[in-house]
Amino acid sequence: MKKYQCMTLIAAGLSLAISSASALEGDAQAGKEATVMCVACHQGDGGGMNIPKGESWPALSGLDADYMYKQLQDIKSGARESVTMQAFVNTLTDKQMRDVSVYYSQLPAVAGKGGEDVTEEELAHGEKLAMQGDWDRYIVPCKSCHGPNNQGAGQHFPGIAGQHAGYISDQLHAWKKGKRHNDPQHLMLAIAERLDDNDIRAVSAWLSRQPAQ
Ligand code: HEC
Ligand code: HEC
Repeated sequence: MKKYQCMTLIAAGLSLAISSASALEGDAQAGKEATVMCVACHQGDGGGMNIPKGESWPALSGLDADYMYKQLQDIKSGARESVTMQAFVNTLTDKQMRDVSVYYSQLPAVAGKGGEDVTEEELAHGEKLAMQGDWDRYIVPCKSCHGPNNQGAGQHFPGIAGQHAGYISDQLHAWKKGKRHNDPQHLMLAIAERLDDNDIRAVSAWLSRQPAQ
C-alpha cells in the first residue's frame, strides 16, 4: 500500500501545481504601513531570524502572496496553531492580510544563512532527503513538490530553500504533533510523519544553507 500512497502523493502534488498561478490582489504600500508591528520579528527586509533552541521567525520576503494570505487565514481560524502569530493576525482586517502578503511577496528573497551546528554527514543526509528522498522509507524528495531547487512552485508549494533551519524544523514537528493541519490533502503530514528527529535536523540544516529564489 505504501508505494501506492507515494504515487498518490506525487499525483496530488502535481495537480495542485498545475492550478497554481498567483494572482492575489493587494496594495503593497498599504501593506508596508501595516507591517509596523511585524518588523520586530520578521525584520525590515522580511528576512526573519533563526533562533536556535527558541521560536524562529520565518523569512517572508519573496514568498508567494497567495500562500502567505492562506497562512494568515489559517492562523486566524486555528487550522494552524501559533500563539505568537495569532495575536498579530487578529489585529489585521482581511484587506490588510492581502496587503501585507503582496508587500512581503515583492521584497527580494534574503539568502539563506544556515547557522545550525551540524556535521558534513548530517548535511549530506539532509541533501539526500531534499533532492532524492528515501524510497525505502517512502519519503518523497522535498523538491518533487517544493520545486527543482526547493525554491517554491506556485501558490501551494512555498519556497523552503534558504528558510531558517529552526523554522523548518518547528513546522515539521508541528505537523507531527498535529498543531498544523492546514495542508491541502495532508500532503505535508504524510511526509513529516515519516521523518525522525535526525532527518528533521539534517534536512532543515541543509535547506537553510541553500539560496532562496
Ligand atoms: C513576536 C514575533 C512575531 C511578530 C511580531 C509577527 N510574527 Fe509572523 N510569525 C512569527 C512566528 C514565530 C511564525 C511561525 C508560526 C508557527 O510556528 O506556525 C510566524 C509566521 C508568519 C507567517 C507564515 C509564514 C510561512 O512561511 O508560513 C506569516 C505570513 C506572518 N508570520 C506574517 C506576519 C505579519 C503580517 C505580522 C504583523 C502583522 C507578523 N507576522 C508579526 C512571529 C511573529
Ligand atoms: C507531496 C508534496 C510535498 C512534499 C514531497 C513535501 N512537501 Fe513540504 N509542503 C507541501 C505543501 C502543500 C505545503 C503547504 C502547506 C500549507 O498550505 O499550509 C508544504 C509546506 C512545507 C513547509 C512550511 C513552509 C512555510 O513557509 O510555512 C515546510 C517547512 C515544508 N513543507 C518542508 C518540507 C520538507 C523538508 C520536505 C522534504 C523532506 C517536504 N516539505 C516535502 C507539500 C510537500
